Amino acid sequence: MKLGRLNHIGIATPSIADAIVFYRDIMGATKIHAPFDLESQGVKVCFVDTPGVDGALNGTQIELIEPLPGNTSIAGFLEKNPAGGQHHMCYEVPDIHAAKAEFEAMGKRVLGEPRIGAHGTLIFFVHPRDMQGVLTEFMETPKAGEHWSN
Ligand code: CO
Repeated sequence: MKLGRLNHIGIATPSIADAIVFYRDIMGATKIHAPFDLESQGVKVCFVDTPGVDGALNGTQIELIEPLPGNTSIAGFLEKNPAGGQHHMCYEVPDIHAAKAEFEAMGKRVLGEPRIGAHGTLIFFVHPRDMQGVLTEFMETPKAGEHWSN
């Protein structure tokens, strides 16, 4: 395994609309993407960009996550953390299937099969108990120019 770029930090929120106001007016975010439903995972998602080095558009993003009706995992997180909070971190890998095999070979609990994530590339999660307490997402690196498609 080779540690990859920190693509985004997932933040669960009871209201993406309220969170957008916070990141815009309190945190000074200038690039907030349009929220969209990720039906396959039962969530509404909104990406907020942070600047990269020297203002380049390759900074780590914040992924705001609000549960859609019927969602259980994010809704359960919000039951324990009603104001929302940090939910997961996501690192890029060059090959999602190779990464999954490597983590499984190390005895880490991969949660399900790779599936299409919020950036349109394949992702999987690894159980926080095997990852120093952090729910960790891995995503296949988007092709050039696709980081900001949402
Ligand atoms: Co994520």
